[in-house]
Amino acid sequence: MTAEGATSVLELSGIGKQFAGTQVLRDVKLRLYPGEVHALMGQNGAGKSTLIKVLTGVIEPDSGQMLLGGLPVWPKSPLAAQKLGISTVYQEVNLCPNLSVAENIFAGRYPRCGWTQGLRIDWAAVHRGAREVLARVGLDIDVERLLSSYPVAVQQLVAIARAISIESKVLILDEPTSSLDDDEVQKLFEVLRRLRSEGLAVVFVTHFLNQVYAVSDRITVLRNGAWVGEWRAADLGPQALIAAMLGRELAAQSAAPAAAPSFDQSVPALLEAQGLGQTGQLQPLDLRVRAGEVLGLAGLLGSGRTELARLLFGLEAPDRGALKIDGATVTFKSPADAIAQGLALCPEERKTDGIVAELSVRENIALALQARMGVRKFLSHAEQSALAERFVADLGIKTASVETPIGLLSGGNQQKAMIARWLATQPRLLILDEPTRGIDVAAKQEIMEQILRLAHAGMAVIFISSEMSEVVRVAHRIVVLRDRRKVGELPAGTSEDAVYELIAAEHA
Ligand SMILES: Nc1ncnc2c1ncn2[C@@H]1O[C@H](COP(=O)(O)OP(=O)(O)OP(=O)(O)O)[C@@H](O)[C@H]1O
Ligand SMILES: [Mg+2]
Repeated sequence: MTAEGATSVLELSGIGKQFAGTQVLRDVKLRLYPGEVHALMGQNGAGKSTLIKVLTGVIEPDSGQMLLGGLPVWPKSPLAAQKLGISTVYQEVNLCPNLSVAENIFAGRYPRCGWTQGLRIDWAAVHRGAREVLARVGLDIDVERLLSSYPVAVQQLVAIARAISIESKVLILDEPTSSLDDDEVQKLFEVLRRLRSEGLAVVFVTHFLNQVYAVSDRITVLRNGAWVGEWRAADLGPQALIAAMLGRELAAQSAAPAAAPSFDQSVPALLEAQGLGQTGQLQPLDLRVRAGEVLGLAGLLGSGRTELARLLFGLEAPDRGALKIDGATVTFKSPADAIAQGLALCPEERKTDGIVAELSVRENIALALQARMGVRKFLSHAEQSALAERFVADLGIKTASVETPIGLLSGGNQQKAMIARWLATQPRLLILDEPTRGIDVAAKQEIMEQILRLAHAGMAVIFISSEMSEVVRVAHRIVVLRDRRKVGELPAGTSEDAVYELIAAEHA
């Protein structure tokens, strides 16, 4: 289990950290070797991001030491860590949406020109440099446009481009692929392999097990803030990895209840879209979903899945076609109208669209239900607590208490709380946009089972996911989108390959 005589570039040992009395890291170690990709693995809330924050000077640990090239160091800030050659892409994109792409890449270290080499930022050089860096992650975009004008996936690639543009020895990527599609992930992996061959040590956090094996040389597993072990990736198979993360075996995936093979097509549609579209956003399409039915929406990023969800939920106004609920035409002027009809949407971008970081887990979970009940009827504190406690238990949300500010939960646990918020409204139709992003293997399975249980009890569900294995497992029917138009509809029991084929048909 040791490193075959290689010397580590960075070594952390005995790391301990408490937050408000909770021991979040306990005697944790991590050794990074040059020219290796190291997967840091563990369930939601295991302590991965916290360890990374220690490593990058964001938080100060209570105990432990850090050796860089054999010498003791303690970066006191992310900037100090960067100067030591440790660069990071955090779990939540932490760039400035109101700056241009190029500004985001070079913020704090602009190429300058002029007599004094210090007065004027050389914008031509900034833009040229930004384009070069982006080319390394396979992006060819207008670097002078605001970062916020691009989708999250592009923003994430920009964050990665910024990190690799910094001369560094250690590159840390905390769930960099959670909003990338397959092609983009492949591009990123090519970049990582190149950096590895240049001798960089890469730390990689992900909840996609196949990605771990595609790119990692070594694996460290954390469980409940404690170090479980370090292995060469070749020596730790996926089942053993899951067992190390969970401290137990995961029930076989195939044992999970599959969606009913077919759905009674004579049941009238709860929601029906007829030629619904929005110019420039979505080509007119037909769609229907019945009570008790799970409709999968498959397609690549940017294929129009999120746009369709927003149209159905009244966040965007369609300029074509009609929307019907129980056979009657409706016009949603805002989400409030959709909510009044029993619709709910759990959005893709939880940080900006969902989480209220300062509010407690209880308040965050109760929010949508309270909004639905209106201002005259308040949920009592006790009712809110009961509701939150139930979902914390049902979805396995890891939190000190329901009164903890949600911003203090790990990324995956915040996501679970968002799902709970919408489940709590007991909608007739629930639209879930990438609900399992950032969620660990065990919790993914729990969420899929929960969806099937709810459908069985009569809820209609529209399920959007980039993970085709999930879509084919949970959906009674799959609508495939490509380039903002519907390109087909597939029945339950369709293979992943068949869905991919339809998605990719155009390129064939
Ligand atoms: N500032 C803080 N105050 C209190 N608790 C915190 C704080 N930061 C993290 N925690 C807690 O530490 C634990 C570990 O969180 P961390 O974000 O490191 O998990 P993670 O392994 O990255 O999980 P995920 O896979 O969900 O991202 C969580 O229970 C979290 O609630
Ligand atoms: Mg994390």
